[in-house]
Amino acid sequence: MKIAVYPGSFDPVTNGHLDIIERASKIFDKVIVTVMKNSNKVAMFTVEERMELLRKVTKDLPNVEIDWGTGLLVNYVKKKQAHFIIKGLRAVSDFEYEFQMALVNKKLEPKIETLFLTTSSKYSYLSSSVVKEVASLGGCLKELVPDEIIMDIVRKVREIRETRG
Ligand code: PNS
Repeated sequence: MKIAVYPGSFDPVTNGHLDIIERASKIFDKVIVTVMKNSNKVAMFTVEERMELLRKVTKDLPNVEIDWGTGLLVNYVKKKQAHFIIKGLRAVSDFEYEFQMALVNKKLEPKIETLFLTTSSKYSYLSSSVVKEVASLGGCLKELVPDEIIMDIVRKVREIRETRG
């Protein structure tokens, strides 16, 4: 069985991520979408909330599983008995960092292959940071994230605004 792990922060999942998930789900028997805990990044959504949003948008993809992980990605991938890491590449600017990560992961665990899927050009401008900025400034999220999670993001922005006063 060919199992791939698609790791990321997914804070929150965007249409660009979903495009990669859908395409990967056609290539692999199972795709595990993994929210990696990253203590260096301040997140808008908790890990559980990010997983919930991912579950919502992948509910019609039977071979896609949502999970979370921490620590070294290659250790997580081994634990899941997967042999592939999926990464999305938006632009040349992503390449240098992703290339370095792929080589580090290869050095740490030579049996695990990193495979890159190029993002569809219509999503090449998109990132979770762009989504958070548009949402925080009251802009329209249509076509940036799946429709079914727009209200969750709007609610979260409101919640943050209210707690900050
Ligand atoms: O969506 P992101 O924030 O670009 O995802 C980055 C992520 C989580 C895939 C990356 O930071 C990662 O792989 N973290 C796990 C720690 C690790 O294994 N790092 C590589 C060796 S230094």
